[in-house]
Amino acid sequence: MWNRRKHLLLSSLSLLRHISSTSHLPRLHPLKPSPLLSPSNSFLPPVDSQLRNNLLLELPLRGFPRNLSSSNSCSFCWNCGVVGPTSGVFLACGSCGAVQPVDASVDYFQIFGMKKIYEIEEGDLEGIYKDWQKKLHPDLVHSKSEKEKGFAAEQSARVIDAYRTLKNPLSRALYLLKLEQIHVDEEKTVSDPDLLMEMMEMREAVEEAKDTQSLNEIQSKVKKKLDSWSKSFKEAFNKQDFGSAVNCTQRMKYYERALEEITKKL
Ligand SMILES: *[C@@H]1O[C@H](CO)[C@@H](O)[C@H](O)[C@H]1NC(C)=O
Ligand SMILES: *[C@@H]1O[C@H](CO)[C@@H](O)[C@H](O)[C@H]1NC(C)=O
Repeated sequence: MWNRRKHLLLSSLSLLRHISSTSHLPRLHPLKPSPLLSPSNSFLPPVDSQLRNNLLLELPLRGFPRNLSSSNSCSFCWNCGVVGPTSGVFLACGSCGAVQPVDASVDYFQIFGMKKIYEIEEGDLEGIYKDWQKKLHPDLVHSKSEKEKGFAAEQSARVIDAYRTLKNPLSRALYLLKLEQIHVDEEKTVSDPDLLMEMMEMREAVEEAKDTQSLNEIQSKVKKKLDSWSKSFKEAFNKQDFGSAVNCTQRMKYYERALEEITKKL
């Protein structure tokens, strides 16, 4: 009996060590400027881009906002010169349909037209994701220029990154903290004996589970725990209590990892 306990404790410890490595999490790329970003498409000061486009394209600037100071960014379609939306994201031109280059200053929430808050509707995320993928699909742009195909491939990769990051509760939480420039030490483990014990017991139960039903029961318990920490994260984040919010993500990581372990057995 004692040996079994010791074995479980040791395997829990190794699980905890494993949890501290975050290789299973989607990587959050720093917002680097894209090499493909062409100057006429970046968010330049409005007057500059107006002049540039007038000179380069000699096209009437339809729908140009009159009060330039009221919009902090302004972009034009590289293909037809029409002005992009004054707020939100400019992935494809509403007028000629041309796919635009990636704008690294646009964050993942903006790609999905969502407020930068933790609580999002997964259905909305899914729907908008499918829409973007339809518009950026290689089959749809295969007849277009190499330049536009390049833009579409880049945009598509970025939309996939954005979707994966926002869909998962933990990576969404970490991304929000990143946007707030809050540093999260992802190597840090939680030194709470209760959590250690809980993980050990969970592991024991998973090992002893005889059928899918008992695994499902453990799974739903762990999901509830994750949900509850996820809710605590939301409350802390909304209050801008970033210290607590970071602590919540550290606990969420344990439950996410536990869910992965259970899924493997199911
Ligand atoms: C332009 O917008 C800014 C900010 O919204 C406002 O303060 C300013 O009065 C506006 N100017 C004109 C000419 O409407
Ligand atoms: C976060 O957790 C650490 C222990 O890991 C603790 O010392 C700290 O007080 C916690 N911060 C908040 C704001 O709860």
